[in-house]
Amino acid sequence: MNSEINLEKRVAVITGAARGIGKEIARKFVQHGASVVIADVLKDDGKATAEELGESASFWPCDISKFEDVRRLIDYTTDRFKRLDILVNNAALNPSQAEHRVTGDAFSETYFADTIDVDINGTFYCSKLAARYMREQRGGNIINIASIAGVVPLQKQIGHVVGKGGIIKMTEALAVELGPFGIRVNSISPGSTVTAATRALFYGQDASYSKMAEELLSFIPLRRPGQTEDIANAALFLASDLSSYVTGHNLVVDGGWTCGFVRNF
Ligand SMILES: NC(=O)c1ccc[n+]([C@@H]2O[C@H](COP(=O)([O-])OP(=O)(O)OC[C@H]3O[C@@H](n4cnc5c(N)ncnc54)[C@H](O)[C@@H]3O)[C@@H](O)[C@H]2O)c1
Repeated sequence: MNSEINLEKRVAVITGAARGIGKEIARKFVQHGASVVIADVLKDDGKATAEELGESASFWPCDISKFEDVRRLIDYTTDRFKRLDILVNNAALNPSQAEHRVTGDAFSETYFADTIDVDINGTFYCSKLAARYMREQRGGNIINIASIAGVVPLQKQIGHVVGKGGIIKMTEALAVELGPFGIRVNSISPGSTVTAATRALFYGQDASYSKMAEELLSFIPLRRPGQTEDIANAALFLASDLSSYVTGHNLVVDGGWTCGFVRNF
């Protein structure tokens, strides 16, 4: 525990925290003293994660693409804790299946709409209702998990690219509006990060990388994928007072992937 970072008495809602990056952010926040509400569509995983993290964590089932679900999530949190200090909009539809990795001309319009529903509409619903409460509270902190796909478009992921690009702009728009009320809004854009899904897709289950992973890593100056803890550390910084003068920023955590084109000639 970094003694300069203290989230004691702070209440955080983290969407999509049943597993993966969101779970690691929840763990980090709890380790630094926060009470955390894990909101996810995955009930069993969500409950198991809350149990694993101990009494400072609780689970609330929520589909962020449904406005009424989000209203119940914010009501539950503010009724129970009488505060809402941090919202982490982490839930998203990730294009991890091969059938969803196709060029725009072949991209399913249903999957495109579903992605926008979760990434854009869901992030908006959570931000809107949290910001309303935070304005009255005269302070708060919103952290959106975007992606490098929203910074530099990746091929065959049009829904993800548009969704994440939109989240970066939503971050800036809300930062401008909410700054005068003491509410900071920032985003984090992870590069390729090791989770169960990316392990299944290309990293492989053991320590040896697949050929696809080796190729991907050759574009990354630090020559390694991100770990969920790398992203959680960035979230911890943005949630803490160490970043008290930072708002409207997109913090890229990608091992240098998007800072320049890596080639050796
Ligand atoms: N893993 C990576 O390489 C990577 C890279 C860049 C950005 N990201 C972003 O990081 C975030 C976390 O990704 P991850 O890799 O941990 O993915 P993940 O799929 O393991 O976790 C996403 C979580 O969101 C939940 N979720 C999905 N739709 C939801 C909805 N409608 N309502 C509530 N919960 C919902 C899922 O159930 C899941 O628990 C996402 O925003 C993702 O786009 C991940």
